Amino acid sequence: MSQNVVLITGDGIGPEITASVQTIFKEAGVPINWIEAPAGLRAFEETGNPLPEETLNLIKEHKIALKAPLTTPVGKGFRSANVTLRQTLDLYANVRPVKSLPGVQTAYPDVDIVTFRENTQGLYIGHERVIDADHVELIGLITRKASERIIRAACEYATKYGLRKVTLGHKANILKESTGLFLKIGYEIAKEYPKVDFGDMIIDNMAMQLVMRPQQFDIIVTTNLFGDIISDLASGLVGGLGVTPGANIGEDYAVFEAVHGSAPDIAGLNKANPTAILFSALMMLRHLDMDEYYERIHAATLKTLADTEVRTADLGGKGSTKSFTEAICRNLDK
Ligand code: NAI
Repeated sequence: MSQNVVLITGDGIGPEITASVQTIFKEAGVPINWIEAPAGLRAFEETGNPLPEETLNLIKEHKIALKAPLTTPVGKGFRSANVTLRQTLDLYANVRPVKSLPGVQTAYPDVDIVTFRENTQGLYIGHERVIDADHVELIGLITRKASERIIRAACEYATKYGLRKVTLGHKANILKESTGLFLKIGYEIAKEYPKVDFGDMIIDNMAMQLVMRPQQFDIIVTTNLFGDIISDLASGLVGGLGVTPGANIGEDYAVFEAVHGSAPDIAGLNKANPTAILFSALMMLRHLDMDEYYERIHAATLKTLADTEVRTADLGGKGSTKSFTEAICRNLDK
C-alpha cells in the first residue's frame, strides 16, 4: 500500500527541487502517494493566506509532509508560514544532521553533528511590540515543558544511535533566567541518561568551537534562535545549505524540509542543488521505516555527489538540477 505524504512545493526553487525528489522516488519505486498542498508567498498571492486551512487539514489528516522552502517578506508583510506551521502542529524538535560527504571539499573531512533546535519558543516566536518609532520590545519564552521534551529528544537520539556526547548551547551568563532555566533542565534530564556524556557550552564559544574543532560534537541541543544560527554554521562545515536536510518533529506530525530558503536569486534557472531536500525526504523514509528505499537512494546520491562534473554549481560542479537528478536515477542499483 502507498504511503500518503503531503507535498508543499513552496516558493522560489521549491518546485524544481521537489520535482527532483519525485523523479528519483518514482525511479526507485518508492510507494508514496504525493498530495500537493499550497503554502508560502505563492499561496498568499493566490488565496490571501500563506498557510491555507486546507493545507493544515491535509497535514493533520496524513501526519507527514515534505515541504520546500517558503518565501517570507523581510521586515514587512505576512508572518512566516514556517513559524505558524511549527507552532500550530506543535512540531517542537527541529532536527538537522550534518555529515561530511565523500568528494565534497570542505574545511574538515570528518564532521558528523546533529543539531536539536527547540522549535516553538525562545526569541523566535516573534512577539515584537512597537513602543514608538524608535523603540521596539522583543519578548522570548522558555518553559519547562518545551525544554524538557527537546532535551529528552536529543538524549533519546543519542541513545538510539549510540552517540556519546550531547552538548547544550545556552547564554545563561547573560540571559540568566531564561536560558538559565533551559540549562538547569538540561542537567536534570541528563540524570535519566547516564550513558550520555552530557555537557554545556556558552553559545558564542560553541560557534567558535564549531569552526575550530567541530569533531568534538556529536549532538547539540539548544534554544530556537541559537539553533537557527548554529545549524546554518554547521551546514557550512559539510558543503553548505544545498546539502543540509532537516525535520520538524512533534508528537503527532512530522514535516521534513531542507535548511535552506527559497533562493530567489537562482529560482527557475535549473541551477538549484536538490540534495538538501532529497536528504530531508530520505530522513522521512527512515521515519516511516522505509529503510530499504532509504539505503538505495542514499547510496546513489553519495555516488553522484562524488562526481565533480555532475554536481551542481554550489558544489563547484557543472551539473544542473535536472542533469544531477538524472545522474542519481542512473546510479540507483537496479
Ligand atoms: P536562501 O537559503 O534562500 O539563499 C542563500 C544563498 O544560498 C543564496 O545565494 C542561494 O542561491 C543559495 N542556495 C540556497 N539553497 C540552495 C540550493 N538548494 N542550491 C543552490 N544554492 C542554494 O536564504 P535567503 O536568501 O536568506 O532567503 C530567501 C528566502 O527564503 C526568504 O524569503 C526567507 O524568508 C526564505 N527562507 C525560507 C526557509 C524555509 O522555508 N524553511 C528557510 C530559510 C529562508
